[in-house]
Amino acid sequence: MRTESGQIFKLGDYRPTDFVVERIDLTFELDPAATKVVSRMILHRREGVAADAALVLDGDELTLDGLQLDGNDIDPAGYAVTPDSLTIRALPESGPFEITVSTTISPETNTTLMGLYRSSGVYCTQCEAEGFRRITYFYDRPDVLAVYTVTVIARKDDAKLLLSNGNFLGGGDYDEGRHFAAWFDPHPKPSYLFALVGGDLGMIEDSFTTMSGRDVALKIYVEHGKEARAAYAMDALKRSMKWDEEVYGREYDLDIFQIVAVSDFNMGAMENKGLNVFNDKYVLADPETATDADYANIEAIIAHEYFHNWTGNRITCRDWFQLCLKEGLTVYRDHTFSADQRSAPVKRIAEIRLLKAHQFPEDAGPLAHPVRPQKYREINNFYTATVYEKGSEVVRMIRTILGAEDFRKGMDLYFERHDGDASTIEDFLACFTDASGRDLTQFALWYSQAGTPLVTVSTDWNEAGKTFSVTLEQSLAPTPGQSRKALMHIPLAYGLILPDGREFEGQPHGGEAGNGVFHLTKRKQTFRFAGVPERPVLSINRGFSAPVNIAMEQSIADLAHIARHDSDGVARWQAINDHATRSLISAARLSRDDRKLPSVAELAEILIATAADESLEPAFRAQTLTLPSESDIAREIGGNIDPDAIHAAREAVMKEVAHAGLETFAALADSAPTGPYSPDAEDAGKRALAATAMAYASIAEGWPDRLKKAFDAADNMTMMAQALQLLVYQFASAEETREALESFRARFADNPLALDKWHTIQAMAPGAKSYDRVEHLLAGPDFDRTNPNRMRALVGAFSAGNPTGFNRADGAGYRLLAREVIAIDKRNPQLAARLLTALRSWQSLESGRQEHARLALVSIREAGALSADVSDIVDRMLP
Ligand code: PHE
Ligand code: ZN
Repeated sequence: MRTESGQIFKLGDYRPTDFVVERIDLTFELDPAATKVVSRMILHRREGVAADAALVLDGDELTLDGLQLDGNDIDPAGYAVTPDSLTIRALPESGPFEITVSTTISPETNTTLMGLYRSSGVYCTQCEAEGFRRITYFYDRPDVLAVYTVTVIARKDDAKLLLSNGNFLGGGDYDEGRHFAAWFDPHPKPSYLFALVGGDLGMIEDSFTTMSGRDVALKIYVEHGKEARAAYAMDALKRSMKWDEEVYGREYDLDIFQIVAVSDFNMGAMENKGLNVFNDKYVLADPETATDADYANIEAIIAHEYFHNWTGNRITCRDWFQLCLKEGLTVYRDHTFSADQRSAPVKRIAEIRLLKAHQFPEDAGPLAHPVRPQKYREINNFYTATVYEKGSEVVRMIRTILGAEDFRKGMDLYFERHDGDASTIEDFLACFTDASGRDLTQFALWYSQAGTPLVTVSTDWNEAGKTFSVTLEQSLAPTPGQSRKALMHIPLAYGLILPDGREFEGQPHGGEAGNGVFHLTKRKQTFRFAGVPERPVLSINRGFSAPVNIAMEQSIADLAHIARHDSDGVARWQAINDHATRSLISAARLSRDDRKLPSVAELAEILIATAADESLEPAFRAQTLTLPSESDIAREIGGNIDPDAIHAAREAVMKEVAHAGLETFAALADSAPTGPYSPDAEDAGKRALAATAMAYASIAEGWPDRLKKAFDAADNMTMMAQALQLLVYQFASAEETREALESFRARFADNPLALDKWHTIQAMAPGAKSYDRVEHLLAGPDFDRTNPNRMRALVGAFSAGNPTGFNRADGAGYRLLAREVIAIDKRNPQLAARLLTALRSWQSLESGRQEHARLALVSIREAGALSADVSDIVDRMLP
């Protein structure tokens, strides 16, 4: 483990390496405790670099066994070595030379899940961002692109299958009991895309013919016996390959594409060239054990990693500050893929919900950072919602500003100009400027300024003059390290909806606008429309065209008008959601003062009408019926948060809606499709509607019967998990709930992914008592701290997904998190740091909880011997 070194890396300090690596030949002799790695590199000194400049390579916890220059041992005086660096002096001034580095590493004791490690007996690697340096000394940075040849040798009984990047060269018997396989990847790549897998796995196979007629073998490896559960992932892969050809003209470039699913993984998946490694949660699915949401995630992540082949692998990042160059863009690509495969408005609504739930709080708290950070202490801590999700929104805005055609031209230019490069955001933006003629200088601030802009909107209707004007004003609050902000270019899609529901088509004066978009570029701008026949209602930030907060005094009647008439489905949802948010905020305020809550009859009427409106997609109705979450309400309130008051208010509002619409909800609760399960968007939407309706119906009935029946009758995990969750949330102490939990656990005793759900459902049960349940589960026989999925399912779900339980007034939830973070940090710093970010909004709590949270953070800081990952997060969170 790397402990805190205090070193800060800065964007402005970028400098190319002194030496160029042309090729690297790696040989691995796999062994659980002592794997031998021999790396032979062909290098040359970069032009203009001083003759006495040394070659300085990165390492992490390495021991050097041998070092040669052109086949001869280097004299100890000619180099200096530590566990984290190797410096070689006296190298040839010109021409290529060969350096051979030998190291021995121990996969079985590597608990960080970075570098070469073992997961359920399978050897696997994770090298992004800086894991390759845990395998051998190398220039472990993304701008060093080399051609790799990899030979893997292993005992046949230890690793039957031997995989690496690129195309298969050959293999066979090696010596007594051992065999080997050799792989060659012709595409120069950075070290973070290196991968190796060794083990005994099952496989499913298919093939894809590319648009130029080349056949690509597709293979997905999973644990023996789980092959059938990889079928959906394979289907998603083929659809992704086809989509990237059709939408971006991008074709796959090797003879083989392989995916390996492992059970111990720090993130979702990894785009290693030609050999993706996945958290098995995002590969394995069957109706009995995976929910519709799991299927949708698998589709999205398979697509995401595949799309990286062009946006990330063929064009990579110059340095880690440019992470959003590959991640924001690739998220954007997987979002549009899913939108094309499913319902576009429903997909967009889910994205907005996610962005607001994860990225907005990040931007509003102590961990705020720009989409392209300017400095970091630990790069692992920058795989964030800001880099990924806001990074995707920024790309989406480029498309909004340029229009579809010029956006595609810009992307084509990017692929043409930068294929094979390690690029920057400046390179990327220049392609769109050059393709469209549009100046993006001001727009580029989205990459460098942190924080969510606030746009204040006011309107003015002049009845006599038939003019309507819209005044927009932008502001951006200070964030850590950025006290003064410049004015941004904010593209706001809008519509003016007339009383009869038609849209006013005229163009405004007073600022740049076009194609239904206001371009807000100054602090304050007024857009004037003339010849408007009647007072219109303004629909603003349609489709969430910009990731901003909007402040506008809009009457409930106007929101209802938008909800009824807006041509944009997302805007219709947004209007209802805004209405619900308002009701919930005022209910939360009253609940805190122990005052009686006013009726929400108007909101109930809209929700019930939407639920029953068969002209709308079921998935859309389900989204609309899902009230803003407790965290959503807390975020909108902003400060001095009392999670209990918010919970009570939301319960009360749901209850009133449930009683008012019981008949409708009860009927819909039984409307899930029958017959064979299909994960497609249409059936999933129907299940989502039934599941949401079931929540309301059982609240109104006040009795667990319906849920228990639904649980017992469920023939798929979507409905089963929903019924179980509602039993646990609504009827925590009922006998039915105890029975259901027990039967679920027994049924899925040997299915870790299903057992994760069992833990998560209990971890998220509202109320102070859930703390005891979590402690009980942590001590239980099913709990395994070494497995990241299980840790996230219990500790992660409790701390990030249970506002009332985690934020217990006595601070016990925070102390639990601190204790677990300190313990897991010793094994897996990345996981520990990520779990800790659950406290990122601690300063917005009321003062009592705030003090408990602060003390928990201090206790971590004082625990000592922290990893760089955890100390970076703690130091940024504590002022
Ligand atoms: N690059 C991966 C992705 O987004 C994420 C990842 C980062 C995985 C770091 C592992 C380690 O697709
Ligand atoms: Zn990615």
